[in-house]
Amino acid sequence: MKTPILFALASSSLLLANAVLAQVNPAAAPVDPNAFLNQFESTFGKFEGYRRSGAKGVCATGEFVGTSDARALSSASVFSGKPIPVVVRFSVGGANPKAPDNAKSQRNLALQFNLPDGELWQMGNISAPVFGASSPQQFFALLASRQPDPATKMADPAKVKAFNDSNPEVLLLPRYLASQPVPASFASVSYWGVHGFGFVNASGAKQFGKWVFEPVGGVQGLSDDEAKAKGPSFLFADLSQRVKDGKVSFNFNLELAQPGDKIDNATVPLPEGRKKVNLGTLKVTAVSEDAGGPCLTITFNPMVMPKGIEASADPLLPARAAPYAVGLGRRLGEGPKQQ
Ligand code: HEM
Repeated sequence: MKTPILFALASSSLLLANAVLAQVNPAAAPVDPNAFLNQFESTFGKFEGYRRSGAKGVCATGEFVGTSDARALSSASVFSGKPIPVVVRFSVGGANPKAPDNAKSQRNLALQFNLPDGELWQMGNISAPVFGASSPQQFFALLASRQPDPATKMADPAKVKAFNDSNPEVLLLPRYLASQPVPASFASVSYWGVHGFGFVNASGAKQFGKWVFEPVGGVQGLSDDEAKAKGPSFLFADLSQRVKDGKVSFNFNLELAQPGDKIDNATVPLPEGRKKVNLGTLKVTAVSEDAGGPCLTITFNPMVMPKGIEASADPLLPARAAPYAVGLGRRLGEGPKQQ
């Protein structure tokens, strides 16, 4: 009987700690995961069965082979140098499962490395070096500021402007995407982890860094005319063809932080010119033919890390775990869907 009592005590002290935190600094109060999901639905619409973010996606599989440079940085078994099976999900940003492929919007690369002895490494990477908010509270307020007015069905421009004026860093992500061409393929754009992570080696030395997956074949974008001609739905067929041709690979690169670099803020990239280490190569080898595939029940929760990798103090990282679980619960209950 000891465990339930201890658990109850631990949970009530956690609740108490959260309540005290909220009183001292309301901006630091945790955002309820259900409130987060409700706000996603109010702002972007509710598409039953689909992920509330990255809804239009395709599941694939592949393998990863790590380098000796990676082994010097981290003891994680993912870098053993032996092929590691990986579940891969590519998606277009947003909650709409019919989002156009030919817009200057976000692309996502979500991964689950299936490691020996049942260990997992999950991550969700985006096609920009920064995220659109630095804390869960700011992200929640950002979504709320974009909620459509029931009368106009549009976000209130005055609210949007007021929010942007007092939170200028939320514009870094949309400005970056607007400055880039429409990606020619899921396979021809770079995907950043945006958070700092610690890499711990066999001697216990810890190196912080931020990672990026860069296409081995180089970055390719479409001109505005090419994007128009491609139409709203070309990315899945393009991916299948490139995978059949054996041309979908990414270099998993880590930019090494130096003392004093900011590593706990997803809106701040590391300074230009930091040393980049190649951790290995990810090769995508098969694309799910139908709506199935192993992705359906995976949330790609970045707090699922192997031994040898540790989270930085970025407050967004732990804040992702519960909303992802609630999102999974909702879509499973509705009947999970994928294109
Ligand atoms: C507190 C902040 C965040 C919240 C509440 C949130 C919420 C969500 C939710 C609900 C999902 C769908 C989960 C599912 O149903 O399986 C999702 C997916 C995703 N999120 Fe976040 N997110 C947050 C921060 C971030 C950040 C900082 C990134 C940047 C790397 C990110 C990247 C992604 C990606 C790539 C996916 C799609 C993964 C897939 O293909 O399934 N999210 N997010």
